[in-house]
Amino acid sequence: MQKLNGLKILITGGAGFIGGAVIRRLLTSGDSFIFNLDKIGYASDINEINRILNDNKLSNRYTFLKVDLKDIKEVENAIKISDPDLIIHLAAESHVDRSIDSPSEFILSNVLGTFNLLEASKQHWSKLSNKRKEKFKFLHVSTDEVFGSLDINEKGFDESYPYDPRSPYSASKASSDHLVRSWFHTYKFPAMITNCSNNFGPKQFPEKLIPLVIQKALKGEDIPLYGDGSNIRDWLFVEDHVDAILLVISKGVIGQSYCVGGFGEKSNIEVVKMICEILENLIPSKKVPYHNLINKVKDRPGHDLRYSIDSSKIQSELGWTPKYSFESALKKTICWYLVNVDWCEQILSQSGYELDRKGI
Ligand code: NAD
Ligand code: DAU
Repeated sequence: MQKLNGLKILITGGAGFIGGAVIRRLLTSGDSFIFNLDKIGYASDINEINRILNDNKLSNRYTFLKVDLKDIKEVENAIKISDPDLIIHLAAESHVDRSIDSPSEFILSNVLGTFNLLEASKQHWSKLSNKRKEKFKFLHVSTDEVFGSLDINEKGFDESYPYDPRSPYSASKASSDHLVRSWFHTYKFPAMITNCSNNFGPKQFPEKLIPLVIQKALKGEDIPLYGDGSNIRDWLFVEDHVDAILLVISKGVIGQSYCVGGFGEKSNIEVVKMICEILENLIPSKKVPYHNLINKVKDRPGHDLRYSIDSSKIQSELGWTPKYSFESALKKTICWYLVNVDWCEQILSQSGYELDRKGI
């Protein structure tokens, strides 16, 4: 983090789950100047950032830019205002189910949005003084889903694994990765990419598996498990992901990509049962045991069987290692949702999202 001190950092998607965690970390440690570019979508929340700013009188280090990446003029203006030394690009539509229901916003935000950001950033970078130009970096935060689906015994994805996206979401992220790579190769634009596995933690919008299961169990409603629940994800606690992002933006090598996984491979049924068991210990169910609420529903179309990440490169080259075990981070996450029931109610009601949909 030493290397980020005093720098102007533009973070896109900072009102989202992971971007918000990055900004809160940067505000509470170091003295960088943060510019948060976000369109404020259904999953966005900036209340906690605002609370940190007020409590610590940090408003001189933070600027919010309500910008939609689809609008090139707005993006150019945001780059002008922020005059960044570093850019961390997290803004994207992020939910696979939504991409299956309505893919167009994914193509526009994730592909066109990334293209607009690259163009405006390249323009900015090309005009920097030599001293600033040498230090400028652009980090594109992507996903393991761009690599497709693994069989049970296949070795995990690493940086040389071929791309094989299989959902509209992963295809849009793969497209944006290709744009970033091509801007590096063609224009020598100093970009890097991270491809990481499923994140979880406090403040994740409750449409994603872990927070959704917690909400359903607490409400005594059916917990929808897609298919037979055997699909496997490699779970990564969001604070470990923040460590990885900050390490790559400070020490990563231009033109490289880094795979980031949580060493937390679990089948969905295992995850759901663990949540039910932890909840049963913390807040015993009154009527039906939580695990009796688990309900197998119609599978997600094109549901990838397994993701697994080989994080050797970021570990050996940059010294990253996750600090949390899946179990300890899951307990921490569940405890956060138990004391922040209001947060969920509020974000669900502002988004209009219906928690009672039962799969696709
Ligand atoms: P999120 O949905 O919680 O937040 C995304 C944020 O981006 C939202 O605040 C949204 O308003 C903003 N955004 C979307 N389109 C925009 C646009 N056109 N202009 C401006 N802002 C826009 O997502 P997240 O889980 O925090 O994911 C952040 C990034 O990390 C995404 O790029 C995602 O693909 C990637 N990623 C997420 C995970 C995960 O498990 N959550 C894993 C790997 C990679
Ligand atoms: O792998 C990284 C990706 O992880 C990120 O790039 C995406 O932004 C993020 O949303 C996540 O994608 P997934 O599709 O893996 O996450 P989700 O939480 O939607 O689903 C996790 C698994 O749980 C998946 O196998 C589908 C299953 N599932 C999900 C929901 C919402 C269920 O069985 N029931 C559900 O209700």
